[in-house]
Amino acid sequence: MNLQNSQNYYGKVLGGSSDLRTDACCTFEMPGDAVRKALKNVHEEVKARYYGCGLVVPQALEGCRVLDLGSGSGQDAYLLAQLVGPNGSVMGVDATPEQLAVAREYQEWHAERFGFANVQFVEGDIEKLGELGLEEGSFDVIVSNCVINLVADKEAVFRAAHKLLKPGGELYFSDVYADRRVPAHLLSDPVLHGECLSGALYWGDFERIAKAAGFADPRLVTDRPMGINDAEIAAKLDGINFVSATYRLFKLAGLEPQCEDYGQAVRYKGSVPGEERMFLLDAHHAIEKGRIFPVCGNSWLMLAETRFAEHFEFIGDFAHHYGVFPGCGTAVPFGQSDANPTKSDAPCC
Ligand SMILES: C[S@@+](CC[C@H](N)C(=O)[O-])C[C@H]1O[C@@H](n2cnc3c(N)ncnc32)[C@H](O)[C@@H]1O
Repeated sequence: MNLQNSQNYYGKVLGGSSDLRTDACCTFEMPGDAVRKALKNVHEEVKARYYGCGLVVPQALEGCRVLDLGSGSGQDAYLLAQLVGPNGSVMGVDATPEQLAVAREYQEWHAERFGFANVQFVEGDIEKLGELGLEEGSFDVIVSNCVINLVADKEAVFRAAHKLLKPGGELYFSDVYADRRVPAHLLSDPVLHGECLSGALYWGDFERIAKAAGFADPRLVTDRPMGINDAEIAAKLDGINFVSATYRLFKLAGLEPQCEDYGQAVRYKGSVPGEERMFLLDAHHAIEKGRIFPVCGNSWLMLAETRFAEHFEFIGDFAHHYGVFPGCGTAVPFGQSDANPTKSDAPCC
């Protein structure tokens, strides 16, 4: 039902972004200069059928090979095509013929505008990426914008994305999350599903699924609470709260289950285009140019073993472990028990 409903909703029910009944598939972030400039080069027809819920534009894309899962009418693909430039490429995959038709109709128009042709659209089901014959370990970056909530087998999408990424590559994607598990019967409501609500993952399940697929340390980049302004839809949702969030998931073999402290630090050179003053690794790591910035082992790997390495100096190594990294949300488990004599008035024996 999921795929059929998506094809019907995005191919036939919606004629454009203004037909949406909630703000789940809308983007409110303020893009930077480079993105705003690139958006001006995207055809109006393509933009009119954009249903993304966030900006899927990670840093330092020049020369990258990018895959867009659920590329729709192609706005993100054409945007990213300009940022990867003539030495990079973007492949969009979508299952809805009407969306693909819009994306493909303007391929030549965009190639002329950019001065190069580096975008390709493929019809396919992202739950079955293995059937598309894509080479494993061949993409630097995979993006997806408001799509994974729509698919039934989310585990399959994360597993396939992990296989298709190069070591050090990342899945950078925006989607809708719920603050609890959405009752299964709501999935059969075509509007709730099509509006990206009833297929949304409970955030705790997302973390578990992503880790099981090999993405050991999911990093939240941005999030915004969503308002459900349609009274009929809100009544059916019965108090479930939704958030639109962007995560980045690195494919790095050395990532540990939690942030460990090896006494390491990085210093940002200020050389990433568009983030000259501050590099945003994630919502908790805004790294100012020139400052010695202490990092856990996982953050170190996300900077040292990825395309970001050339933009940082690295201080330290993994030789000495100093325990859990302070402030990463993981508390030391010991000494918290109510039966602990040091916590109670029990006499020492
Ligand atoms: C909310 S729209 C987002 C489209 C696009 N990412 C954008 O930002 O405009 C969801 C898209 O996911 C596609 N989709 C849903 N399920 C899919 C699947 N299993 N395989 C491929 N595409 C799928 C739909 O066809 C639709 O174009």
